[in-house]
Amino acid sequence: MYNWAKALLVSLLIYSSLVQASPYPDAWQDIGRPATADELEAWDIDVRPDFTGLPEGAGSVAQGEGLWLDKCASCHGDFGDSNEVFSPIVLGNITPEDIASGRVAALTDSAVVRTTLMKVATLSTIWDYINRAMPWNAPKSLQTDEVYALTAYLLNLGYIVDDDFVLSNDNIHAVQAMMPNRYGMTTDHGLWSAAGRPDVVGSRCISDCNADTTITSFLPDYAMNAHGNLRDQMRDYGPFPGIQTAPEANVISAPVPTSTAPDALLLANGCSGCHQQAGPLLGPSFDDIMAKYKNQDATDYLRTKIKNGGSGVWGTMAMPPMPHVDEEALLAISQWLVAGR
Ligand code: HEC
Ligand code: HEC
Repeated sequence: MYNWAKALLVSLLIYSSLVQASPYPDAWQDIGRPATADELEAWDIDVRPDFTGLPEGAGSVAQGEGLWLDKCASCHGDFGDSNEVFSPIVLGNITPEDIASGRVAALTDSAVVRTTLMKVATLSTIWDYINRAMPWNAPKSLQTDEVYALTAYLLNLGYIVDDDFVLSNDNIHAVQAMMPNRYGMTTDHGLWSAAGRPDVVGSRCISDCNADTTITSFLPDYAMNAHGNLRDQMRDYGPFPGIQTAPEANVISAPVPTSTAPDALLLANGCSGCHQQAGPLLGPSFDDIMAKYKNQDATDYLRTKIKNGGSGVWGTMAMPPMPHVDEEALLAISQWLVAGR
């Protein structure tokens, strides 16, 4: 930048900071005060992956076991293996080879239940999470030494430390070096760095991407009729009337709208909120519109009406202009209406 331009910019900045000395009205001047150092310290509790922020303390596996049974087992199971309120914390498929390599091999098996100890790469995460969030019904109620003890107990349940182990701020680095999935985390993916590669596997699609795609979804058998037949509980109108979950039907396959099917166009362009096929909503039903214009030379009229909106044909309620509907869709919808059923 030229020097004169810099000078201009600097003086403009000084000028504008003088003009807007305070962003707040005077009446707010006395509200609030700077946080004190003590307050900031109390608030600043995070523990980093390198254990920066970890307070001093210690706790044994045995102490942790007592605390666990008292405060945690009701939700997570005696051995951290329950999936009643959350996925299991311990057990799962961790092998001595995993601990040696730092990558949990079983995670690549899609059928396997993933536990916290299988997935988590940094021990600080477990310590920090328990410290700030658990027990769920009384977060931040644990003493620092209790958090050490509980962490030690979970590590022991996962065969990472022995029964007589005492976890402390002194030895926690050494335990980190035994975490089964310590090398399992990457930040070299498209989310953190634009040059990274996404950690998902898939093929690129440049054109005709939906050509042969059908999307289907299944409810597992056990969930099928768990809450009665969904179809009976949904309203009758609208594009998603609910599926049959009664025993006779147990597979749902949602038809994929192709780009020219009026149903999909009506849904995508926001018509379905006011119009349905049979029976009036805010606007007349498509059956009635079809009956009125069937086989008439009305395609252009309907295109214009949909685009510009208007009232008076069906009543006093106005249809708002729909300028976002593209020409192709306008034509397809109008032709469909004129063709009738
Ligand atoms: C009232 C039920 C309840 C109790 C009691 C409870 N937890 Fe939890 N715990 C949960 C729920 C629910 C989650 C998941 C919370 C979420 O994802 O927001 C969770 C998550 C966790 C996680 C994180 C697991 C992960 O993979 O993200 C840990 C570790 C944990 N609890 C440890 C404990 C410890 C230690 C105690 C006892 C001091 C405890 N919990 C008590 C319900 C409970
Ligand atoms: C906010 C509600 C609303 C939305 C959204 C809406 N309409 Fe309408 N539509 C109406 C009303 C009300 C009428 C009756 C207007 C009248 O009396 O002329 C109407 C009338 C029509 C008619 C009959 C026109 C005539 O003159 O006979 C067609 C065709 C129509 N709408 C198509 C569409 C399409 C296609 C969309 C989506 C792009 C759409 N509407 C979105 C409320 C709506």
